[in-house]
Amino acid sequence: MKYTPPPAAAGRFNTAWAELAALGRDGRRGGYSRHVFDDADMQMREWFSAQATRRGLDVELDRNGNLWAWWGTPGPGAVVTGSHFDSVPGGGAFDGPLGIVSSLLAIDEMRVRGIVPAKPVALVCFAEEEGGRFGLPCLGSRLMTGAAEAEHVRRLHDPDGVSFADAARRIGFDITHLGRDADRLANIGAFVELHVEQGRLLHAADPTAAIGVGSQIVAHGRWRITVTGEGNHAGTTKPDDRHDPMIPAAAAILAARRSLALHDGAVATIGRLQPIPGGTNVIASSVDAWMDVRHGGAAETAALVDEIVAAVREEAELEGCSVVVHRESLSDAVMFDATLTMDLALQLDAPVIPTGAGHDAGILAAHVPSTMLFVRNPTGISHAPGEHAETSDCLLGVDALADVLAELVR
Ligand code: GLV
Ligand code: MN
Ligand code: MN
Repeated sequence: MKYTPPPAAAGRFNTAWAELAALGRDGRRGGYSRHVFDDADMQMREWFSAQATRRGLDVELDRNGNLWAWWGTPGPGAVVTGSHFDSVPGGGAFDGPLGIVSSLLAIDEMRVRGIVPAKPVALVCFAEEEGGRFGLPCLGSRLMTGAAEAEHVRRLHDPDGVSFADAARRIGFDITHLGRDADRLANIGAFVELHVEQGRLLHAADPTAAIGVGSQIVAHGRWRITVTGEGNHAGTTKPDDRHDPMIPAAAAILAARRSLALHDGAVATIGRLQPIPGGTNVIASSVDAWMDVRHGGAAETAALVDEIVAAVREEAELEGCSVVVHRESLSDAVMFDATLTMDLALQLDAPVIPTGAGHDAGILAAHVPSTMLFVRNPTGISHAPGEHAETSDCLLGVDALADVLAELVR
């Protein structure tokens, strides 16, 4: 793929990136913490609205908190691109925002090329893709497609106990009409999400490729394991008198890690642990452990969870603790639209790669022809401050996105 970006495109990319770099920085964790309806998210939304308006696009907030910008009149057959602004706690700069910045610059590039779309074009910023605040990943796209119930979402709470309904109220967002947006969905002809690659499958497929096309997403889900024991004094409680919930929680961490060796292609991770009350000289009374599990299909994923939970229950019995497991989400494996994927791969002469990460494109894929473009990530690191993509590769991504949109809007 040979493309030398004109300086104007590089300048616009650098300016946009520098403007976003200041928003939502997390001085404590490093990287960025941007969560739905928080200050950083609202600043990102304002930034996007200003950028879209400057380009003469019509900005619109949908009934589920997703932000749209239209080039042309909204209507059937719309070609849609975009991603999300939110991050994981202490996440990287690229996961999400790269797709949004690229969507704006791809419009610029199409205009430079003199393209007049025969179909409506829309850019979308989906709300809470990471589930970093309310625990449900792809919250905005799930609501739009009906994959999440409005009532369920209204009642979700963030770690500070603020409900989705209250968080929405705080920023003046009306949640009366939360839920499936059938008309909007019916208008989408195709969805293409550009994203930084997470992992290094692109490198494995072709070490020279800067851009890949997505083929599928593995099944993935989240579970909260609550272990309850007995709170007590760390210094005075004899071994036989201890009912320490951290011991079964430790078994969960180890069982999750061991499962990688036992099940080819499976990954299970406990990345968040919250002991109550959480004191150094205190045996916790209970602990919540959040587990992320990904495997080939939903049934295999659920079976793997059962296996890990069995190890936790065994340890809990020895420790005199009880265990309650709550599934927060489960998404089955997704195959992106085969025709769209192949068309893009041929058009861009780019390798086709699967991904172990979840995306809004995976939620939309059940309803509209959807696929993804991945921009090379030299180390593969993501969901961490070290996430990176070279600007030259990002510009190749913008050009690739403009290429595919130009073809789709004919
Ligand atoms: C989102 O990036 C996820 O895969 O959890
Ligand atoms: Mn992510
Ligand atoms: Mn993402």
